[in-house]
Amino acid sequence: MNAAVVAPSLLAADHGAFAQGVRAVEAAGLTWLHVDIMDGHFVPNISFGPQVVADLRPLTKLHFDVHLMLSHPDRFVAAFVKAGAERITVHVEADHDVAKTIAMIKAAGLSAGIAMNPDADPRRVLPFLDDVDLVLCMTVFPGFGGQSFIPSVLESIRFIAAERAKRGAKFRLEVDGGINVETGLRCREAGADTFVAGTAFFKAPDRKAFAAALTA
Ligand code: DX5
Ligand code: ZN
Repeated sequence: MNAAVVAPSLLAADHGAFAQGVRAVEAAGLTWLHVDIMDGHFVPNISFGPQVVADLRPLTKLHFDVHLMLSHPDRFVAAFVKAGAERITVHVEADHDVAKTIAMIKAAGLSAGIAMNPDADPRRVLPFLDDVDLVLCMTVFPGFGGQSFIPSVLESIRFIAAERAKRGAKFRLEVDGGINVETGLRCREAGADTFVAGTAFFKAPDRKAFAAALTA
């Protein structure tokens, strides 16, 4: 069983002061930073690129959990490895050879994750489960922070959690999108152990208490 982790999403921080967003995550006593990279093609929004990650790298020891919402994630793995990511997650729906991209991430010594959108058939990630360190079940259609949680994804979370148990696998089960205490605990009950929170974290009156409510 993985220890529960809250990974605040940099997408929800002030884009004019990313370093302050990093300090807020550290001040809450957390260790992961979720970095949402969007190309305006795979998702209908553009966020930021490897230079932001590279410039934040020397400022912090946070674990950079990079989520590539890109049509061709394989083309950007090297740039995010160089920028200092510890973990890179790519979408099963993107236009790439998924197994090859996962192998590329791992060959660089990073943890590899596979992500799927809310409407994906979770069986699509089965061929990769033995090779990844994390499965990300998107709980919104990716592109923007502040969206509402899609409860039907709970079924996929339960399916992946059952597969993990069946295989005795150790990969993390991450959720991302519309995660607050209520939706996060529902996902935890379904088997999730890694909680991306953008809006709910940065808007929380007490960020430490918010994270503790999901990880206690
Ligand atoms: C995809 C992004 C968002 C973000 C979290 O749209 O991955 O899900 O991280 O958004 P919140 O926590 O603000 O819903
Ligand atoms: Zn994300």
